[in-house]
Amino acid sequence: MKLESLALHHGYESEATTKAAAVPIYQTTSYTFDDTQHGADLFDLKVAGNIYTRITNPTTAVLEERVASMEGGIAGLAVASGMAAITYAVQCICEVGDNIVSTSQVYGGTYNLFAHTLPRQGIETRFASHDDYAALEAHIDSRTRAIFVSLLVTQRVMLLILQNWLKLPNVMVFP
Ligand SMILES: Cc1ncc(COP(=O)(O)O)c(C=O)c1O
Repeated sequence: MKLESLALHHGYESEATTKAAAVPIYQTTSYTFDDTQHGADLFDLKVAGNIYTRITNPTTAVLEERVASMEGGIAGLAVASGMAAITYAVQCICEVGDNIVSTSQVYGGTYNLFAHTLPRQGIETRFASHDDYAALEAHIDSRTRAIFVSLLVTQRVMLLILQNWLKLPNVMVFP
């Protein structure tokens, strides 16, 4: 499927009666269980299914699958804000003693998370200007788990950054 078709259709099959293309919005926090054993099996992760909307929701699942397919990813996770997404992404790959390298040109909320909150949790952020490739590279060591670039803030120079980083030794670029 082309990108445009993925954006409109991926992850949702219209149901037979209405053939409606729009994804139904499931405004539910919770789900019913067939019986107590089914509920127990769901919580034990022995069977697949929805347990609680904060964990999975059929509407959100379509968004997650759709974006993952458009980005060429294997799965997606939708959260309710950009800061939640950035926090989850870093917390998922870092533990105490690890560090990330970030361009200095980031959104204020991101800066506060990186410069003030994460250090209190044992994760260091090393900042350098987006156009100072030598400084960015010098920050990278064996405990570096990610290089962070904010596309929205630095989109004009993004291509330049990627081109230059790709030339650096020992650096992997994840889109
Ligand atoms: C570049 C950038 N990153 C992160 C955020 C944070 O997103 P949210 O307000 O959804 O948490 C914003 C919000 O404006 C942003 O512009």
